[in-house]
Amino acid sequence: MKKLSTNEDVMLREFREEDASLLAKYADNEKVSMNLRDGFPKPYTLEQAKAFIGKAKTLQPQTIFAIEYMGQYVGNISLSVCSDIYRKSAEIGYFIAEPFWNKGIATKAVKLITDFGFKHLDIVRIHTGVFNFNIASQKVLEKCGFTKEGVFEKALYREGQFYNEIRYAKIKTH
Ligand SMILES: CC(C)(COP(=O)(O)OP(=O)(O)OC[C@H]1O[C@@H](n2cnc3c(N)ncnc32)[C@H](O)[C@@H]1OP(=O)(O)O)[C@@H](O)C(=O)NCCC(=O)NCCS
Repeated sequence: MKKLSTNEDVMLREFREEDASLLAKYADNEKVSMNLRDGFPKPYTLEQAKAFIGKAKTLQPQTIFAIEYMGQYVGNISLSVCSDIYRKSAEIGYFIAEPFWNKGIATKAVKLITDFGFKHLDIVRIHTGVFNFNIASQKVLEKCGFTKEGVFEKALYREGQFYNEIRYAKIKTH
């Protein structure tokens, strides 16, 4: 599965080594990392970008994609299939480079990877948790037909502060 496309301006494709410099540039942004887990590198160096791309390219089946907008790399999106009794579920994760926010790119990318996951991975549920302050991501998920399943109070803790986690999921229907 090399490419997923809507025949529009947004495409998901395999990572290329030459994406590393833009990945490092776009990911090294507090406005991006503040919405992600502490495991997301901060600062995000070129070496980390290269290592991430190296790993993404080895995954079989492919579950980490580069997002392209009008022919240029603008972000990442992935599905992480869970294990054990959660193995029919996957967690979705994504970010778009700040210069490209509010153009509908994440919405199209989430729709593409959700369709891909339900069609090609052996899963029936795709879910994620969002920081309560991340309204843009909540809107993206709602526009893509995800259901708000609940608010996990004080589930998230960063730098001495608690945040509520808003959980979203979409279930395979056919
Ligand atoms: C969240 C993120 C992926 C959204 O990407 P995007 O391509 O800008 O998303 P879209 O353009 O498809 O949709 C964003 C929606 O949020 C809205 N929005 C953005 N900021 C908002 C705010 N502060 N308050 C209310 N709505 C807001 C936009 O208007 C748009 O809604 P609309 O289509 O109804 O107008 C991007 O902001 C990002 O990468 N953030 C950092 C990483 C992150 O949060 N990842 C997800 C972790 S769960």
